[in-house]
Amino acid sequence: MTELTVVIPTYNEAGNLPVLIDRIEKLGLNCEVIVVDDKSPDGTGEIAKRLNSTYGNIRLLSRSSKMGIATAVRDATLVSCGEFIAVMDCDMQHPPELLPSMLAEARSGTDMVIASRYTRGGEPNMPAIRSAISRFATGLAHFMIPHTRHIRDPLSGYFLFRRDAVDIKKVSSRSYKVLLEILASRNLRTSEIPFSFGARYSGKSKLCPTELLRYMGLVLRLSDYRVAKFIAVGLAGMAVNEGLLFLLEPHAPLLLASAVAVEASIVSNFIMNNSWTFRKRVHGAILNRLAKYNAVMIAGALLNVGILGILVFLHFEYLAANFIGIIFAFGANYLGSESVVWRLELPLG
Ligand code: GDD
Ligand code: MN
Repeated sequence: MTELTVVIPTYNEAGNLPVLIDRIEKLGLNCEVIVVDDKSPDGTGEIAKRLNSTYGNIRLLSRSSKMGIATAVRDATLVSCGEFIAVMDCDMQHPPELLPSMLAEARSGTDMVIASRYTRGGEPNMPAIRSAISRFATGLAHFMIPHTRHIRDPLSGYFLFRRDAVDIKKVSSRSYKVLLEILASRNLRTSEIPFSFGARYSGKSKLCPTELLRYMGLVLRLSDYRVAKFIAVGLAGMAVNEGLLFLLEPHAPLLLASAVAVEASIVSNFIMNNSWTFRKRVHGAILNRLAKYNAVMIAGALLNVGILGILVFLHFEYLAANFIGIIFAFGANYLGSESVVWRLELPLG
């Protein structure tokens, strides 16, 4: 029985595939390799066939058009024989010499072993711009998808998992970030092994600017659109606040009218978030949740005022300072709502 299937998605990797396969074969693993090639014009598919006549354990999964890494990994996993599946780039950025220790870690009971650029000892080795984008994208995943927060590199392209532990049919996007989709679909025992992200050996990266947009769409979908809903509710709350102030102002002192309008908007936001944004997480006494929500909103308001004060002291323009304060208060309100008011009792849901 084959212990390991190494999945290598390829698009125009003719200069890399023979070198990578040679390095994998030198490891002497009990493995098959599945090259998923999307009709590369440079003949990568033909090279895979030729390599199989030398080594005998190289399978080619040939697809009719360029369909992205995520579905390449899914399709290969569905026809694989190994108990464990490893996924890696074809360009030597992911050193195959790490496979034996990843496999050992998985054998000891870990469902998903991630080769990590960002865990202690890892080396991202990326140009400044790509590094900044990668850090931003990782931060976004941590912010929006709570159960990626304990993973330093949830966007790594190099990982190894036990096939039975993963529901691979859930992977459907055109995105690059197949690991994120897998992590979001189920609660897995994970661990990270540091590695040094290498330079591309030959050819060009297929990452293009639209990938970042696609990624944002993916993160929104995987987070069940909670942040977007929370923003929409916040805007609706502003309308409630302004409308009520308009109605009350002729009949009451301004500050009292404002306090009533603010509290009314907090309550209406609470009702909307409770029945829409976080409806899958509703449990416990509603008044208790409302009290916590009030506390979180007041903490956010204090943070807003505090940041405004500090930045104005540092000679920021007051509207700009307030804008930065609002952004941070929004982040704090969201994280507080998610982790205090509508706390997840089970790890996934
Ligand atoms: N079959 C198929 N179809 N393969 C593809 C496609 C496609 O549409 N697009 C890219 N590939 C192959 C490439 O040929 C390469 O072997 C691998 O997928 C990764 O593509 P790269 O172009 O090398 O991506 P990258 O280096 O910019 O980004 C990689 O590293 C990141 C950091 O670890 C990817 O693995 C990312 O997912 C990862 O975040
Ligand atoms: Mn690469």
